[in-house]
Amino acid sequence: MNITKEACLTALSQVIDPDFKKDLVTLNMIENIEIEGNAISFTVVLTTPACPLKEHLESECRRVLKEAFGEAITIHIEMSSRVTTQRADLNFLPGVKNIIAVASGKGGVGKSTVSVNLALALAKKGAKVGLMDADIYGPSIPIMFGLEGKRPRVEEVEGAHKIIPIEKYGVKLVSIGFLVAGPQAVVWRGPMVSSAIRQFVTDVIWGELDYLLIDLPPGTGDIHLSIVSMAKPTGAIVVTTPQDVALADARKAIDMFRNPSINVPVLGVAENMSYFTPDDAPEKKYHIFGQGGGSEIAAEFDTNFLGQLPIHPAIRQGGDDGEPFLLSRGTHYADAFEEVADNVARQVAISNAPVETISV
Ligand SMILES: Nc1ncnc2c1ncn2[C@@H]1O[C@H](COP(=O)(O)OP(=O)(O)O)[C@@H](O)[C@H]1O
Ligand SMILES: [Mg+2]
Repeated sequence: MNITKEACLTALSQVIDPDFKKDLVTLNMIENIEIEGNAISFTVVLTTPACPLKEHLESECRRVLKEAFGEAITIHIEMSSRVTTQRADLNFLPGVKNIIAVASGKGGVGKSTVSVNLALALAKKGAKVGLMDADIYGPSIPIMFGLEGKRPRVEEVEGAHKIIPIEKYGVKLVSIGFLVAGPQAVVWRGPMVSSAIRQFVTDVIWGELDYLLIDLPPGTGDIHLSIVSMAKPTGAIVVTTPQDVALADARKAIDMFRNPSINVPVLGVAENMSYFTPDDAPEKKYHIFGQGGGSEIAAEFDTNFLGQLPIHPAIRQGGDDGEPFLLSRGTHYADAFEEVADNVARQVAISNAPVETISV
């Protein structure tokens, strides 16, 4: 068969993206097709650099092309990405494609640990990532990034003061903890909090970001509603631990986002401290806080289960030392965090897709 661009597109239109249930050609994901004799090269543009289907789609492209043109062809595929967005209201945070709120019904479930390591995992895949620590009750991002006592730069832009995020480990950061000295944070009262949060949401120069994660305070009170209604997140992740008492609170968090006046899509539930695997017995899993709670609650609310994150001393240590463990690769717990990050990016891409794209 003659190798032409049209014939390549016909072959590639057999490759279906399982998330969008349409083929890559219809989805405009194939670009720059070049043909030279027996050599075909093109780019597949994914909706996120953290796409868990990357390998699958690449091998499917190879398979259909060889089926069409025979085994003798050579194929060069560049896998790239363009993160999608649905943010139309760019009066605030222009350049930020997706805002993801990380919430939990109660404190201590690992919301900040999950936010930090998800941010790092997404950045490691090549996404442009920002992290906003909006936990007025206990901002912990400065410690977790080894930035205690640091202050972000403030610049005057067109007569207004703007905060410049601090960049570390490839992630841009702003924390409410940068603005106040430690214990003061807990005695903040309504109007102060509101104005600090407003400044946070509107007066930070993030530049171009694919994902901005917001580490919310634990709970579901008025302050959450005001942060969420100011920031208008693209979606929310709810972090829980597996046991019943934590789940009751996670339900409240999901209800808050689904409240018609808030109406933020819940991207899914991440279960933290799901199990412990000792380093010297990698085949074992101890379910210290019970089992299955996170996936049960995801099913109950008809949302996605984003994955299980193990409990491990190195995770705690990394947080305390200001060197998130994800920076050192190749551990079973690092893999688990990366998998959850992939799932988050995937759910963002799905929720950004036009409705006609995801209907079968
Ligand atoms: N998966 C985990 N394994 C080990 N320690 C963890 C894990 N997740 C969180 N921690 C530790 O638990 C404590 C509370 O976590 P943190 O992220 O601050 O919770 P939150 O933000 O929900 O209050 C911290 O000391 C943190 O290092
Ligand atoms: Mg926290």
